[in-house]
Amino acid sequence: MIAKFQQIVPKYLFFPGKYRIIFLSAALFLCFDLGVLLPNFLISSQLKEDAIIINLSGRQRMLSQRISKTILQLQIATQTAQTITIPQDELAQAYKQFDQTLIGLKIGKTVTGSDGKPVFIPAMQNTKIKNLLTQSEAIWNPYKLKIEPIISSRNKIPQQSLQDAIAYSNKNNLQLLNLMNQITTEQQNISNNRTYTLQIIQTAGLCLALINFFILLFHTLKNLTISDNKIQEALEEIEKTQIQLIQKEKMCSLGQLVAGIAHELNNSINFIHPNLPHLHQYMTDLLQLVELYEKYHFKVDKEIEIKILTKLIDLDFIKSDLPKVIKSMEIGTSRSRDIVLSLRTFSHLGETEIKKVDIHKNIDSILMILHSQFHKQLDSPAIEIIKKYDDLPLIECYAAKLNQAFLNILTNAIDALETKQLVENPQISITTKLVESNFILIAIADNGIGIPKENQQRIFDPFFTTKPVGKGTGLGLSITYQIIVEEHKGKIRCFSSPEKGTEFQIEIPIQVIS
Ligand SMILES: Nc1ncnc2c1ncn2[C@@H]1O[C@H](COP(=O)(O)OP(=O)(O)O)[C@@H](O)[C@H]1O
Ligand SMILES: [Mg+2]
Repeated sequence: MIAKFQQIVPKYLFFPGKYRIIFLSAALFLCFDLGVLLPNFLISSQLKEDAIIINLSGRQRMLSQRISKTILQLQIATQTAQTITIPQDELAQAYKQFDQTLIGLKIGKTVTGSDGKPVFIPAMQNTKIKNLLTQSEAIWNPYKLKIEPIISSRNKIPQQSLQDAIAYSNKNNLQLLNLMNQITTEQQNISNNRTYTLQIIQTAGLCLALINFFILLFHTLKNLTISDNKIQEALEEIEKTQIQLIQKEKMCSLGQLVAGIAHELNNSINFIHPNLPHLHQYMTDLLQLVELYEKYHFKVDKEIEIKILTKLIDLDFIKSDLPKVIKSMEIGTSRSRDIVLSLRTFSHLGETEIKKVDIHKNIDSILMILHSQFHKQLDSPAIEIIKKYDDLPLIECYAAKLNQAFLNILTNAIDALETKQLVENPQISITTKLVESNFILIAIADNGIGIPKENQQRIFDPFFTTKPVGKGTGLGLSITYQIIVEEHKGKIRCFSSPEKGTEFQIEIPIQVIS
C-alpha cells in the first residue's frame, strides 16, 4: 500500500534528505499557525456575539425595571391628572424592546441594538439559558397581556388594567429581573470559558512554534558544524593532493630527465662500444704483421735496433695485455649500456599511457639503478637481492607509474636495512607469482627494522614518516597506494614485525580495469 502510494506520488514530494528538516519545520509551522488562526477566528467571532448577547441581556434587566417604573408613574399620573403620554411612550418602547429581545434570544432574529441600529442575535443553544428563557416567557407572556391595554388606550387608561399590571409587576418583577440577571451571568460564563480556551490554544500554538523553532535552530547549527568540518577536511585533502601531485610531477620530470640523459649517454657509448670488437681485430692483425716482419723482413744490421725497441716497449707484455685491455673496455661499455637501457626502461620516457610490459624487466631496471645503494655502508655487508620470479605474461599497466611504486617500496626497504644496525645478512627478496590466472602478485620483503603495530595503520597516510626531516617526506607509500589501488585497481598489503622485517604484497590485474 505504502509502496504504491510512493509510486504514485512523485519523488520530489519526498523532500531531499539535507533540507527535509527545514521543509518539515515549515510544514509544522504552517500547521501550528493554522491550528491557532482558525480557532482564533472562530472563537473571536463567537466572543463578538457573546458581547452582544451580554449587552442585550443586561439591557433586558434595565427594561424590566423600566416597565415597572413606568407603570407606577402612569398610576401616579392618572391619580394626579398629569400628562400620561411620556410615561406611556416610554412603557411602549420598553415593552417592545424587551419582547423583541426575548423572542430573539429564543429563536434568533434581528433586533434593535443598544445604539439603535439593527443587530442579529442567534438563538440560544445553551440548555441552561434555554430553561431560563422558558421561565422568563412564562412570566412575561401574562405580563404582556396586562400591559398591552395600557399602551393601546391613549389618553385614558383603564384603572383596572393599571391595577392588574401593578399587582402583577409587584409580584413578578423581581423574579423577572432575577431571570434576566441569570441569563446575563450564564452568558458571561460561556464567554469566559471561550476566552480561556482561546488563551490555551494560543499559548499551546506559541509553545509548539517555539519548540519547532529551537529544534530547527539546533538541527541547522548541527548541520552547519558538520558541513564546516567536511569543508575543512576537504580543504586539507586538497592540500595533501596538491603536494602529492607536485611530488608526482617532480618524479615525472625526473623520469624525463633520466630518459634524456640515457639517450645522450647511449649516443656517446655507441661511438665506443660497437667499435671495440673491430679495434680488437685490428690490433690482433697488426701484432701478427709485426711478428712476421720480425721473422723475415729485417736485415741483420737492423736486428739489433729492433731487439732494443722490442725490449723497450715490452712487446711480449703488450701482446698478452692488449686483448685484456680491450676486453675490460668491452665489459665497461657493455655495463654502461645496460645501465642506460635500465634508465630508459625505468623512465619509460615519461609515458603516461597504458603499455604491455615485462614486469621482471622493469624490476631489474630499478635494481640496476639502485645498485650503488645496496652497499653504501662500508662497515656492514652488502644487501643481497634474492629474486624468485615466476613465469609471467606481459602485463598491461601504466609502466612508469608502476615503476615509481616499486622504487618507493625498494628505497623504503633499503632505508629499513640501513637503519637496522648489525644485520648479518641484509636481504631483499622479490617474489612474483600468477594468481587466479588474471592477477599477478609481487612481494617485496626485507629483514630490516620492521614497522611497529601502532604505525602499521598509518603508513599509507600522506605525510606519515618516521624518518628525520630532510630524509623522509611521508609521501612514498601514499603515492604507491594511489598508483596500485586507484589507478591499477589492485591491492596492497603490508605484513611487518620488528623481529622479521617487512613484506609488501602487491596484486594487480594482468589487464587494466577501467
Ligand atoms: N620496509 C619498511 N620497513 C620499515 N618501515 C617502513 C618500511 N616501509 C615503510 N616504512 C615506514 O613507513 C613510513 C612511510 O613511508 P613513506 O610513505 O615511503 O615515507 P618516507 O619513506 O618518506 O618516510 C616510513 O617513514 C617508515 O616508518
Ligand atoms: Mg619512502
